[in-house]
Amino acid sequence: MNFQWYPGHMTKAKRMMEENIKVIDLIIELVDARVPLSSRNPDIDELGKNKSRIILLNKSDLASDKGNELWAEYFKQKGFYVLKINAKSGAGVKSITGVIAEACKEKIERDRRKGILVRPIRAMVVGIPNVGKSTFINSLVGKACTKTGNKPGVTKGKQWIRLNKTVELLDTPGILWPRFDNQIVGMRLALIGSMNDQVLNIEDLAIELIKFLQDKYPALLNRRYDIDVAKEPFEVLGGVAKSRSCLKKGNELDYQKAAYILIDDFRSGKIGKVTLEMPELTEVI
Ligand code: G4P
Repeated sequence: MNFQWYPGHMTKAKRMMEENIKVIDLIIELVDARVPLSSRNPDIDELGKNKSRIILLNKSDLASDKGNELWAEYFKQKGFYVLKINAKSGAGVKSITGVIAEACKEKIERDRRKGILVRPIRAMVVGIPNVGKSTFINSLVGKACTKTGNKPGVTKGKQWIRLNKTVELLDTPGILWPRFDNQIVGMRLALIGSMNDQVLNIEDLAIELIKFLQDKYPALLNRRYDIDVAKEPFEVLGGVAKSRSCLKKGNELDYQKAAYILIDDFRSGKIGKVTLEMPELTEVI
């Protein structure tokens, strides 16, 4: 399978990011809790050096509880402040103000010691497309906050949202380009729906998902479709087709339709809470 992202988009996204990053103190980076490494772009570490950093494990409602725990620990060990959230329901989102204060306390203290007038922390939300940036900003900001005017040095038209007395957030999130240097990463991003499905072979993707679920979460697959999960992956897909009455003319099984159903069920969490990569397996990517 081959996964593509367009260089034109990437260059523009990178330029915007570099411009905005100059004027902020804190990077709030969203990753998808089902694929916390594959949904990160490691370039952000270079772009964001000398900034305070928070990682939000978003869509934690779709990932396994054990996976969420292990990943939170993994990023803490790497020196990030970490929070598990569900931007859609708002779960965990309110805790962010406390974590911001914690993540920026050294900077605030430094400014105070130097006698610099303590100005609000300026923060920016970043992440790859579809990771939940807009949902998170809406959930965090709600209606309670007011927008402030333009600030020098920020791309024209950008505004700051005042979260509280000490924190201002750039109203537009920074878009990070997904990684495309690795086919496993590409496949995982495709599984969570971060790629355009039109460029994918959906049956191949479904087979990859079946292989993974057979290995790591066989009971979930069995429970959802009431099928024998020990068979060959293609036969398992046939089982999904049968269980959902996916038939073509002449009563042939419609594997493509079954593949769409399986992938949709996975993406929406109907199969269950599934983490596609675990910290101890990071060497594969
Ligand atoms: P982006 O700005 O980073 O591109 O992402 P955006 O907020 O548009 O969110 C992308 C999709 O992910 C949306 O679904 C959104 O509802 C969903 N989403 C965001 N955060 C969470 C979360 O924590 N849990 C879950 N389960 N979903 C989340 P959509 O299909 O585009 O819209 P809709 O089906 O919600 O209407």
